[in-house]
Amino acid sequence: MEQTIYEGELPVNEMIRSAIEARKKAYAPYSGYMVGAAVLTNELRIYTGCNIENASYTPSICAERTAISKAVSEGWRRLKAIAIVGSPKGDTISQYAFPCGVCRQVMREFADPEEFVVITARSEQDYKLYRLYELLPESFGPDNLRNQECCK
Ligand code: THU
Repeated sequence: MEQTIYEGELPVNEMIRSAIEARKKAYAPYSGYMVGAAVLTNELRIYTGCNIENASYTPSICAERTAISKAVSEGWRRLKAIAIVGSPKGDTISQYAFPCGVCRQVMREFADPEEFVVITARSEQDYKLYRLYELLPESFGPDNLRNQECCK
């Protein structure tokens, strides 16, 4: 299914700018890979996040999930889009950073995969857009569990 992504409906530049700023706060002493993310809620609020690593490795969290956790914990559960900026330490953002599988699944929890837009950016002018279903096809989500005894 081909869908046009109407970039004009999203504050793409502001989201990328916010992700670039958030990336500066990344705590990544072990991997040296710094990531910033900015998530847009359905109400057009932007929440940012960076990756936060841990000496015990496993508790590390990605920038996308930091941003989503901030939005959801403030009460905003319906998400429209996310901008991601990631690159090894240093100022030049040399690559397009794609979200890891865990972050894609977390996006899925709070978004419609046909609608939610993932923006991976190298700068405000240089970015790519995807719908979540392209990055996480045939996904499993909350709808699969609706009407189950356990969810009532
Ligand atoms: N990372 C993110 O923040 N987002 C992703 O989607 C991929 C990976 C972080 C986790 C870790 O701190 C570092 O990048 C290297 O994996």
